[in-house]
Amino acid sequence: MTTELLSLLCLGLCLGYEGEKKNEKLPKPSLHAWPSSVVEAGSNVTLKCQAHSQNVTFVLCKVNDSGYKHEQSSAENQAEFPFTDLKPKDAGRYFCAYKTTASHEWSESSERLQLVVTDKHDELEAPSMKTVAHICNPRTLGR
Ligand SMILES: *[C@@H]1O[C@H](CO)[C@@H](O)[C@H](O)[C@H]1NC(C)=O
Ligand SMILES: *[C@@H]1O[C@H](CO)[C@@H](O)[C@H](O)[C@H]1NC(C)=O
Ligand SMILES: *[C@@H]1O[C@H](CO)[C@@H](O)[C@H](O)[C@H]1NC(C)=O
Repeated sequence: MTTELLSLLCLGLCLGYEGEKKNEKLPKPSLHAWPSSVVEAGSNVTLKCQAHSQNVTFVLCKVNDSGYKHEQSSAENQAEFPFTDLKPKDAGRYFCAYKTTASHEWSESSERLQLVVTDKHDELEAPSMKTVAHICNPRTLGR
């Protein structure tokens, strides 16, 4: 219930929906993660939002996080939102939208992009530490 309200609020804030459809919306942009949408904690990723027109203002939003809102103006038709030193809390679903100087409304929002942050300690170090513990087990070594 609360998360649903929050995500509706985010949509409202980010896209300026006011429950009316008087103007045709700009076509939705596309959102991609470079180099990948599955990234290790501590590494970097860039989310690229690409629109169909130039000289636009982009906004990047996060699903269920109404406080997350990054705007960027671009003379080109795309904007890059860099993330460095990724934390597990950066994982989640993102979407972007844009508006031109002529349009006062945000475009339709892009498809949701799921950013997955993997914990390299769980995946890489834990198994090898288990192996080491097994090999170094004094009881095994003693024989
Ligand atoms: C996000 O909100 C939706 C409802 O709008 C809910 O179904 C979903 O579980 C929420 N996700 C998270 C990660 O809170
Ligand atoms: C992430 O970006 C920062 C700043 O640009 C850089 O110093 C760092 O080396 C990068 N880390 C990786 C894993 O590429
Ligand atoms: C973008 O805006 C600048 C000035 O704000 C203008 O010089 C340029 O021609 C515009 N480009 C396009 C493609 O509209």
